[in-house]
Order: sequence, then structure tokens, then C-alpha cells
Amino acid sequence: MCGIVGYSGLRPAVPVLLNGLKRLEYRGYDSAGVALQVDGGLVVEKREGKVASLAKALGGIEGSSGIEASTCGIAHTRWATHGPPTRANAHPHVSSRRLALVHNGIVENHAALRGKLRAAGYEFVSETDTEVLVHLVDSNYAGNLLEAVTEALHDVEGTYGIACVAADEPGVLVVARRGSPIVIGLGEEETVVASDAAAIIKHTRQAVYLDDNDVARIEGGEVEIRSLDAMPVTRAAAEIDWSDDAAEKGGYEHYMLKEIFEQPEAIRNTIRGRMDADRGNAILSGLNLAPRELAEIRRLLIVGCGTSMNAGLVGEYAVEDFAGIPGEVEQAADFRYRNPIVGSRDLVLAISQSGETADTLAAVREAKDKGALVAGLVNVVGSTIARETGRGIYLHAGPEISVASTKAFTSQVSVLLMIALKFARGHRMSRERGMEFVREIEALPGLVERVLARNDEIAAIAGRFVEFEHSFFIGRGYLYPVALEGALKLKEISYIHAEGYHAAELKHGPIALLEKRVPVVALLNDGPGKDKTLGNVAECQARSSPVLGIVTEGDEEARRAVDGCIEVPPAPLHTAVVPATVALQLFAYHVARLRGCAIDQPRNLAKSVTVE
Ligand code: G6P
Repeated sequence: MCGIVGYSGLRPAVPVLLNGLKRLEYRGYDSAGVALQVDGGLVVEKREGKVASLAKALGGIEGSSGIEASTCGIAHTRWATHGPPTRANAHPHVSSRRLALVHNGIVENHAALRGKLRAAGYEFVSETDTEVLVHLVDSNYAGNLLEAVTEALHDVEGTYGIACVAADEPGVLVVARRGSPIVIGLGEEETVVASDAAAIIKHTRQAVYLDDNDVARIEGGEVEIRSLDAMPVTRAAAEIDWSDDAAEKGGYEHYMLKEIFEQPEAIRNTIRGRMDADRGNAILSGLNLAPRELAEIRRLLIVGCGTSMNAGLVGEYAVEDFAGIPGEVEQAADFRYRNPIVGSRDLVLAISQSGETADTLAAVREAKDKGALVAGLVNVVGSTIARETGRGIYLHAGPEISVASTKAFTSQVSVLLMIALKFARGHRMSRERGMEFVREIEALPGLVERVLARNDEIAAIAGRFVEFEHSFFIGRGYLYPVALEGALKLKEISYIHAEGYHAAELKHGPIALLEKRVPVVALLNDGPGKDKTLGNVAECQARSSPVLGIVTEGDEEARRAVDGCIEVPPAPLHTAVVPATVALQLFAYHVARLRGCAIDQPRNLAKSVTVE
């Protein structure tokens, strides 16, 4: 999704802005641009495609003739929503060549505003909803950008994170947010603003996160925040705990591979300090629930999108399995529109790596309105979902840059198992079984390491799959979400059509598509349900589909039943989810690499989906 960077200070702005944009590339985008204050005017440069072509247009990151003296500017990477990814539609958008503005989000009443602004004489050169914002600010401008932006935003319906500059106010940036994040990085006599902390950690760890309806004026190191009603607002600075190195590739060919290999450490960080081995319980203080309150919760309702929703399914199974309370997963986008039955004895758990996904955030708000207890399971500290839920559990998995989510999933599953344990111990699970459960969770990093050790074998198997264009992934019970996630990974990065199905459901339709050019990946870990899935494998083979099995090490029966296999270490099925998923992440990665795909930035996808 779109990215914003802004700078005001003493240094040349171009390198800061371009490096910031490069840090945001991972979010997915299709054009980029900058606006710089130069000699009492604005220089705007925009390009279709990658930041590299914008940098080239500006004369390279290291020195850009004519504009290198500029110490204040804004920049943007655009993921097209309204209008195709052309140069004209790229941000910044300008008005009268005296104001420039970048925007994340969607202006819902853009058509009505455009009509009014046209009537007032403004000409539009793009198809974007954003261009109305810059003219709207211009129509309110009388020499004070903060006031003009504040006035203009009263007329705007929809969501925005914006940054703008005026030619007549050197060194001044104005930023504002409603529904789309803005982080203000505080430096010595300088400020770097961005839509994502990744763009500012190179410069500072001290950050202020704007809340909805905040507007801020920045000039060098001075930051003034006001509400839309022009009342002064104080927002405390927070420390960003991600290192700059953590956001680099560290010798790996792709972020995705790095993040796959980081999983043992990420899971260790997720569970560190949260296991009470003696009492056989999990310590989840962020949930802020006394044992008595916990015992009164009647249902765990999980909302999320994409990979986070797949992780949620594992949580649903685990709370029902161990805690004996109903679990339910709901696609976050549907939650507020279908008027769900939710009440004060439900714990609604919003799962989101980024903490910014618009649909998940909307579900959080709806659940709060309905009086439920709402908690977040979020990776990005200080993100909107983390702040709005007010209670929850941070993953501590470190920055996830690859669009295809990997380490967030395994950390999410680790936390969901801890939540299941916590609920189970509050209900019927004995201390002894709890102690064993703690050991099972603590074994996760080691299980993942054993799969990673098979990377070369998995790469070799992947070589046999590069030519296919369609595939199915099947599993049952705890392994059904793994099938969904394995298929999602493969389609996201290799563009092979991959569908995850419950193993038993295959014969209710999809089996019609099976033939020798349609392989099936079967989750065959040793445990309850394996025999049934073996039966489904035979049904696939009878239709000539080649079958790749994920099988438990040493399970000769499963090995013999398939045409190729990836072995994973033995584990109870509720934890086997994690190593089995890691095997499929590596499988998808190698298939995509062999097909020459842009693994870290797959076409059309965005890392954090801040529009509905
Ligand atoms: C996008 C990403 C997915 C992610 C989903 C939910 O679609 O490409 O990788 O799973 O959003 O994101 P969240 O940040 O809420 O987990």
C-alpha cells in the first residue's frame, strides 16, 4: 500500500526521502514521487514504476543537481486505487504550483468535492481522489498551511494520512491522520515523518504516533500537534525497538528467505518470559484479565485477514480442543456488515501483523461498540489496532518486510497456543497437562530448525513443481489451516493457481479438476486423521494427480503413499502446524525463485492493506 515520507531539518532532504521510500518499497507500490522546497518554489518529480527510476530522475540518491540544497520535502509511493499507476496519478499532487500533498487512504466524497472545486475554477489533471485534497487545502489557504489543512479536512469523508508543503512556508510540513497511520520521528533539529516506522529508524528511535483527527505542524525539530478543532494536543513519544539492521536483508537473497530463517529466533522472542513452567501456564499480562474474568469468557472470536486469519483458525481449534470453550474465526471484512452476535462475555481477538489492516480495524471498532472485550495480537508496536484495542499481546517477531507473511504466522500460532493454554488452565486442564503443554510450545523453535536444515532438499523437490499452473493443498483438523496457508504462500509469490481445501471436501467439486498436470500437496503428519487423508491421496492419484506429501520423519507408510515428500519432525498436531507451515513456506519460496518471480514484492499485492 501507499507510503509517505517527509523531512524538515538542516540536511539535504533528497537522500532522506529516497532512502525512506526505499524502506517502504516492501509495502507494494507502482509509482513514486517527491516534492521539494527549492528557492521559494516547489520542485515536483514523479515516475511510474520503482523508486530507482525516481532516484535516477533526481540525479541519484547521492547528489541531485539543483535540488540538493533543499532541506524540506515530501515523498510517496503509490499503490493504485483510483486511476491507473501513471505518472499523472502519482503523488505528490499540486495546486497552483504553490502547494503539494501526498495521501494514503481513500477520500470517499471525492466526486462531490471535485464538482465544487471545478465550479470554483480548479482544474484536475489526474483521476485520483487525492487531487481534490490539495485543491481543497489550496482553497482554504491564506498563508498558514496548518490552518488551511485543518479547515479543509472538515469537509473530507473517508480515510487519510497526509503530508503537505507550501512554497511560501519554507521548512514547514503539515501532516494529519484519520484511519491511515502517520509516525513522526524526532531528531536533533530535524524531523522525519512517515506512514511506517521502517522509513525513520535509520534516523531516530523516538517517535510520536498521531491519533485519528490529529493535525501536526513540523518545522525542523519543532512539532506542534492540534486536533481538528484546533485545540492543542499532547502525544507522548515512544521508543521504536526495531534496529535498523533488522530491516535489512542481512546476506539473504530475499527478505522472505531471511524471515523464514528467522523463525526459530522470532518464536523464542514471542514466547520469552511468557511461559510459567512450574504452574503449567502462560503469562499473558497484556491481556489484562484476572483469572476470574478469564473464567467468565464464554467464547473466543477471532478476526483477521489473509495469513493472520489462517493463523486464527489454529487458535479456534486449540481453544475448543484444550479449553473447551467455543472458538470462531471471522473474516474481518464481513464482521461489521453482517451484524454479528457478540456480547460482553466474548473475547474478540484481532490478529494483524501490521496492526493497520482497515478491515480488521473496522471489526475491532464494531466489537467494541457491541460491548465485547477486545484484544489485539499484533506485531507492529504502536500500530492503530494495538492502540485501539488497548489490551493484547505483541508478537515481538521483529519487522516483517516481505509481503508474503511468514514469521508473523508462526509467532501468531505460538501466541494462540499460549492463549489456548491460558484458557484451558482456567477451565479443566490439569497442572500436569499444562506443564507438558508448556514444553510442547517451548519445543517449537527446535522443530522449525529441523525443517530449515532440509532447505536444500525442499529446493530440489520444488524444482519438480515449477512447470505446473494449478495445484491443490489438502489437510484436515489442525492441518487444514496449514493447507490454506501453504496454498496462499504459493499463489502469492509464484503465481501458480493454488487452492487450499479440507481434504474431505476435495471430492465435493475440486476433484473434477484433477489430472496429471494438477498436483496435490497433502498434509500427512502422523496423528489423528492421517489415515483418512491417505485415503484422499489415493483418490487424487487415481485421477493421475502427482502428490507431494508433508510427512513425519520415519513414517514409511506415508512416504510410500506419495510421489514425493518433505519430511518434518514428529510433534503433536497442534504444534506440528508450525514446522509443517515452515516446510510449505520454503517450498513456495523455491518454486517462486525457480520461476524467476519478484518474491519480496509480488505483483498487485500490498503488505499492509489500509483500504477496505
Ligand atoms: C495483506 C498481506 C498479507 C497479510 C494480510 C493481513 O494481504 O499481503 O500478507 O496476511 O494483509 O495483514 P495483517 O497486517 O493484518 O496481518
